[in-house]
Amino acid sequence: MDPAVVQNLVQQIERKDLSTAAHTWRVVLYTRAMAESLSINHEQIALITQAAALHDIGKLDLPDEILQKPGKLTDEEFEIIKYHPVSGYARMIDLDVTEEPILDLVRYHHERWDGAGYPFQLKAEDIPIGARMFAVIDSFDAMTSVRPYREVLGDRAAELALIELQAGMGTQYWPDAVEAFTELFKSGGLDHILHYFNDEVTLPAFENARDIQFDAIRARYSKVKA
Ligand SMILES: [Fe+2]
Repeated sequence: MDPAVVQNLVQQIERKDLSTAAHTWRVVLYTRAMAESLSINHEQIALITQAAALHDIGKLDLPDEILQKPGKLTDEEFEIIKYHPVSGYARMIDLDVTEEPILDLVRYHHERWDGAGYPFQLKAEDIPIGARMFAVIDSFDAMTSVRPYREVLGDRAAELALIELQAGMGTQYWPDAVEAFTELFKSGGLDHILHYFNDEVTLPAFENARDIQFDAIRARYSKVKA
């Protein structure tokens, strides 16, 4: 895909779900590092990396009340959330995207190795490789990124996240992907990405909302550091 189109879409996702440029960059960089470690060919790596940046494109179709709801989602709301891989895929088709790695990752990034994921309940090798790999990365970043409620950050959070990934091997996650990610992490090859904590990049349209969020993040982070 044209990088300028990808960038524009990514900015739309970040504005819509109040995620940050730092989150996108971390998952993109993890994805790239991991694909390289799995000796996937160069062209595929480039496509999987673009796909990582666009994985949540379907969130553009979700209502703000649900996407930005601070508390726990109801079952009904979660059913709506489950729609985003499908609507993301539809958006890619509308944009005449034909590259399989992109379509596959957008459509299948919430499937689980044991078939208990969503929305298609694909199982094991029926899930395309990029999506299987990305599920591990997305979870790891969710468990290690700065959140107002998170007490443990940095290397300690990473240790705990790796334990969670190990526990999910063969159920939630493709065992090979967990092994590859763990090995890569332990070699220090992902440290620079983990520490890319720059979650404080402002998005002009949401300055007020984000100020509140950032204050909480800053308070938490300075406490942990001290
Ligand atoms: Fe998603």
